[in-house]
Amino acid sequence: MAEPLVESAVWRRLQWHRGEVEALHLRGVFESDPTRGERLTAEAAGLHLDYSKHRLTDDTLQLLRRLATERELPEKVRAMFRGEPVNTSEGRPALHVALRMPRFRSLVVDGVDVVKGVHSELDRMSAFADRVRSGEWVGATGRRISAVVNIGIGGSDLGPAMAYEALEPYASRELTARFVSNVDPADLAGALTGLEPGETLFVVVSKTMSTIETIENARASREWLVSALGAGADLTPHFVGVAGDPEAGERIGIPSENMYRIWDWVGGRTSLCSAVGLSLLVTLGEESFRSLLNGSQAMDDHFANTALGGNLPVICGLLAVWYRNFMGAETTAVVPYSDALRLFPAYLQQLWMESNGKSVTTSGEPAEVDSGSVLWGGSGTNAQHAFFQLLHQGTALIPVDLIGFAQSAEDSAERHDLLAANLLAQAEALAFGRTADELEDAGAPEATIPHRVMPGNRPSSVLLAERLTPATLGALVALYEHSVFTQAAIWGINPFDQWGVELGKELASRIAPELAAGWKHELHHDSSTNALIHRYRALRDGR
Ligand code: F6P
Repeated sequence: MAEPLVESAVWRRLQWHRGEVEALHLRGVFESDPTRGERLTAEAAGLHLDYSKHRLTDDTLQLLRRLATERELPEKVRAMFRGEPVNTSEGRPALHVALRMPRFRSLVVDGVDVVKGVHSELDRMSAFADRVRSGEWVGATGRRISAVVNIGIGGSDLGPAMAYEALEPYASRELTARFVSNVDPADLAGALTGLEPGETLFVVVSKTMSTIETIENARASREWLVSALGAGADLTPHFVGVAGDPEAGERIGIPSENMYRIWDWVGGRTSLCSAVGLSLLVTLGEESFRSLLNGSQAMDDHFANTALGGNLPVICGLLAVWYRNFMGAETTAVVPYSDALRLFPAYLQQLWMESNGKSVTTSGEPAEVDSGSVLWGGSGTNAQHAFFQLLHQGTALIPVDLIGFAQSAEDSAERHDLLAANLLAQAEALAFGRTADELEDAGAPEATIPHRVMPGNRPSSVLLAERLTPATLGALVALYEHSVFTQAAIWGINPFDQWGVELGKELASRIAPELAAGWKHELHHDSSTNALIHRYRALRDGR
């Protein structure tokens, strides 16, 4: 049996080493090594990572790499790429990397070349997208499609919604995309506002095709179409679907020839590059969608083939472990300086927290150390005027990823430079702060000095790319996917299952009929849930 993680020499050494690092301030660290800002950087797939403003030394990095080696990260990466059943509790591979492998490659899993299957499905999707984009695919009244409404939730929504917002400049001007996820009727109503029913295509995405929110929204969409187009209208061209089992579309009236497939080895939160991206493929077109895949693939290749020291996802993952397990950070923030990426933190929340929110190891034993941190964030500069105060002067240590681009999609270089100036300024302010002496020299009134001192020594990564393109976005997505995998490999947990979300779903399906039932219906929950059900019914019915 492998040695317990906390008893390994490298873990103990890191615990001890933490004291050495805590004694340092980034000001001193930079002063003693003028090359640090250029040295602690790495590049891959069009992304430049500056991790010099982290609270670590060369020894920290060396120890973290040793930890990764001892926890068999390279072997685990190889196992994932080979299609071994790394999702141990569900006994299957996690092969999102196969979704973006080039056509000429082959990856045989259980006797089947999955790359071949991926490309044949991609070709089907592309042919369908072409028909919609060219106007050949028409609705019940013979009109071409002008709106694509994606219905899905979690991984069947967050990725496509985020990517569409991010890449809207690449989307067809002839097509509007809307995303509906919440079972709150307001969500669907809002998404349908202003749409022409005869020109609307619904893409119903659910790997299981049993997620209640999605099924109900698909049903309500059909009703919306029927009330506008009449009960006799042929609604077949208004719905396509994406599911694990193509026959499952029948349950909501979608024939199997209009279904696209997501394999069971693709997890919801890592499914953007699969048929889950169909609404993106339709709105962006094949070329842009394929460049998104190529961007992810470039990062996959880098992750699989680069030594730990220069490997971007490995560096990011090990930094997350360092802060979580040794420096006491419970949360991590992500701040893209790009309004187009405003949904990126929400997208990452599922990837990061659904994957690594686990407290047992792959073998079912209690996790030995803290795992998954809380990820949160928002777009810069708005975030500066909202939560950055806490990052700068609060008592919690919160590492931040600042993501920026050198060129804007809009024609306003000046304002874009101002945006970038803010990103760089925040990283500088977080790291180096402002001392009492500096404030005094600048003539700050004495009484204000304690309030104005900026402690600095607050860690951040800066991720810079030339421009937010489909390929850059693909690379960013894969970077975080593999960082999450790296963390899980160190902690010995399975990042690919999500059993924790099941109980709530089960209870909701028990409570839903109880809400509809009359007040005489007996309830058998705890006293709080019973009382809340009574109160809800009374408020709803105006009693
Ligand atoms: O709620 C958890 C979850 O299973 C996610 O992992 C998944 O992305 C989402 O629900 C949607 O699932 P489906 O695609 O099967 O509708």
